[in-house]
Amino acid sequence: MAIGIFDSGVGGLTVWQALQPIATEDIVYFGDTIHIPYGDKTPEQLFGYFRRIMDFFVQRKVSAVVVACNTMSAVVVPRIGPNPPLPLFNMIDAAVAQAVPVTKGRIGVLATRATTESGAYPRALKNAAPDLEVASQACPKLVPFIEAGLLGGPMISDAVKEYVTPLLQAKVDTIILGCTHYPLILPEIRRVAGNGVSILDPAEQIREDVARFLEGRTPTCSPGSCRTEFWVSGDPWRFQSLAQDILGTAIPPVQRYSGAGDGW
Ligand code: DGL
Repeated sequence: MAIGIFDSGVGGLTVWQALQPIATEDIVYFGDTIHIPYGDKTPEQLFGYFRRIMDFFVQRKVSAVVVACNTMSAVVVPRIGPNPPLPLFNMIDAAVAQAVPVTKGRIGVLATRATTESGAYPRALKNAAPDLEVASQACPKLVPFIEAGLLGGPMISDAVKEYVTPLLQAKVDTIILGCTHYPLILPEIRRVAGNGVSILDPAEQIREDVARFLEGRTPTCSPGSCRTEFWVSGDPWRFQSLAQDILGTAIPPVQRYSGAGDGW
């Protein structure tokens, strides 16, 4: 058995990295790279991609799926009802569990346009703690920059300033990285936000949630020695090269999932 993880592209690698110390089953990673960026897509499009990705994971016989994508967690997961085809871990529940105990009352959320427009973060946060003030900021430039391999430099710096400044003006004490791509530019976000603001990566909470799930199962490998199969819907070479740049280490050859063709 294995654990599935998916995202539109390399953002899910930040969650994949967080799982390495606790993984006791192999991992199947899927990057839906032909549909990047998810943040620009409609709920109907995202729903269609999600269904096909679930079919892929059912075929790969995974035991659970980490939705390593806030956009899918915000837009699709709340609409699929209580009986998903596989047990799911989603970023929004993880972020809320992590943020509520640490905030002093004002939370900022950096996210994609689709996540921001869904209202999922303010809804979930206020559900957990009704007195919270929540400021949301859509960051449409960031995922295309990161997927182009831009993790620093003046363009990232200007975009981060543009997106973080309104949250600082709203006097937030905590910022949720509400897109799994954003931890890849954490140093820049931290630099602009300053030391007085806590910056949360929900992958840390996902690690705890998945560890609890795995504790109830028979290990098939030990942490550090579990393998990952990487799959994408787009160009495997492109993904492999960017992933290796980001991780600073080689990954196994990336495979293309042919069910994820142009008919998607
Ligand atoms: N990394 C994803 C998220 O957490 C998707 C970003 C995108 O493709 O726009 O929202």
